Amino acid sequence: MEPYTRHVLICTGGFCSNERGGRALYSQLAMLLRREGLLFGPRRVKRSEAPCLGVCDGGPVMAVYPEGVWYGAVTPALLDRIVVEHLRDGKPVEEAIFHRLPL
Ligand code: FES
Repeated sequence: MEPYTRHVLICTGGFCSNERGGRALYSQLAMLLRREGLLFGPRRVKRSEAPCLGVCDGGPVMAVYPEGVWYGAVTPALLDRIVVEHLRDGKPVEEAIFHRLPL
């Protein structure tokens, strides 16, 4: 497997968002990562979809590691911000974080 700098998990389940909004976000994420040069190469971000991340409310939910930052109510516009500000520039979108692992 190629090395990667971050891992993004997106819930595509139906309990945290009414219309399984995570599925569209997962597709959008690939396009955004490609646009920002993060889909391949030395700054590669790995993406995975999960049927449930154990939150089941306030979604779509996504998590970014190694920071252990969890975002809720992710919209397409917010996902764009997360990719640019967090994944590309390294600055999490603080106002959208609902949980952070103690590191
Ligand atoms: S269904 Fe999304 S966190 Fe459980």
